[in-house]
Amino acid sequence: MELPVDAARISRELDTLAGFTDDPAPAVTRVVYTPTDLKARAYVRALLREAGLTLREDGLGNLFARWEGARPELSAVATGSHLDAIPHAGRFDGTVGVLGALEAFRALRAAGFVPLRPLELVVFTSEEPTRFGVGCLGSRALAGVLTPEQLAALRDADGVSVPEAARAAGFTAPLEAVALRAGHFHAFVELHIEQGPQLEAAGVPIGVVTAIAAPATLHLTLTGSGGHAGAVLMRGRRDALLAAAEVALAVEAAALATEDPDTVATVGILDVHPRAVNAIPNRAFLTVDARDTHEGRRDALVARIRADVQEVAERRGVAAEVVLVNADPPAACDPALVAAAERAAAAAGLPSQRLVSRAYHDTLFMARVCRVGMVFIPSQGGVSHRPDEYSSPQEVAQGVEVLARTLAALASEPD
Ligand code: GLV
Ligand code: MN
Ligand code: MN
Repeated sequence: MELPVDAARISRELDTLAGFTDDPAPAVTRVVYTPTDLKARAYVRALLREAGLTLREDGLGNLFARWEGARPELSAVATGSHLDAIPHAGRFDGTVGVLGALEAFRALRAAGFVPLRPLELVVFTSEEPTRFGVGCLGSRALAGVLTPEQLAALRDADGVSVPEAARAAGFTAPLEAVALRAGHFHAFVELHIEQGPQLEAAGVPIGVVTAIAAPATLHLTLTGSGGHAGAVLMRGRRDALLAAAEVALAVEAAALATEDPDTVATVGILDVHPRAVNAIPNRAFLTVDARDTHEGRRDALVARIRADVQEVAERRGVAAEVVLVNADPPAACDPALVAAAERAAAAAGLPSQRLVSRAYHDTLFMARVCRVGMVFIPSQGGVSHRPDEYSSPQEVAQGVEVLARTLAALASEPD
């Protein structure tokens, strides 16, 4: 089958989507349920309708766009990704998996492909943890890992809960109906940028993911004693920022201590109160993002970080509140889907290589609903979560072709 993937069209659409940002170009900031996010969703919704797909949205704003199969009673083959972007992000993370899936559907239709099973394109709500602190919000809820009660307890920095924010954004369907039953989909395959350097270094255009590393997040609040920066003497201070600084260094040391490149840990946010030039910080809030391909080693890393926080807190006379926001198991891609993606790459005349995803994706949670697979394309310089994130139009189009061929094979499976 010849597939007329239109590299210029998807490039144009990626450009348009990048225009929905709260940061000046080339950076993109798109936080869930903000006016910018809603504009991006409206743009994508219009493209999906134009492509003749039937749309459904759940109470969180997860969007399902369906291409009906010759046998509509069979479970659908699903694909998709996210539109939200972290502060000061690039423009390919997530968007390639949404617009790429749409281009895959259009190319398949133009090639005369008739799916036996329905095909569904899913746009997941809030894959990034920016607003509510937890990543993969929409896919977690679809997997039943976040219940309506837990969603109601999750609040943003202004105290707005997830249901309140979703309703204000126009998503009013019941949250009780969000979770999908296991087996809802026949399979799920996500196209994504690699976000690391391996494909570029190997000169290979297609990555086939075998597993996704296990992520965990901690929120730490350290409370010491504030006061006048001039009048309070150095001895006996209980400076919350200095305790946080020691904790951040302990996080780095804990990750390095495994001596395995698959262990990573990051302090991405550090806020101090009252944030005045001439006041001792009395409170510090910091986040820890800890990941490993091995769940046991990730758990040991989190335990060591917790112990280090207690040690620093006691020695510096600050109170430490530690909240484990999430500690998710890794996900394995289905061997049959790995093989299907490899066959699709070969059919497209493209070399592929297997790799592990150290970043997380909505696929991590779709793995609880059905068999999953992922297709990666190279990221220039291995760079992501930065404005200079880049994959060329040709690389995007190659990923689209492999995705399309994988979906076509899966959508032709009678059982
Ligand atoms: C996804 O954005 C991740 O942080 O891995
Ligand atoms: Mn991301
Ligand atoms: Mn992503």
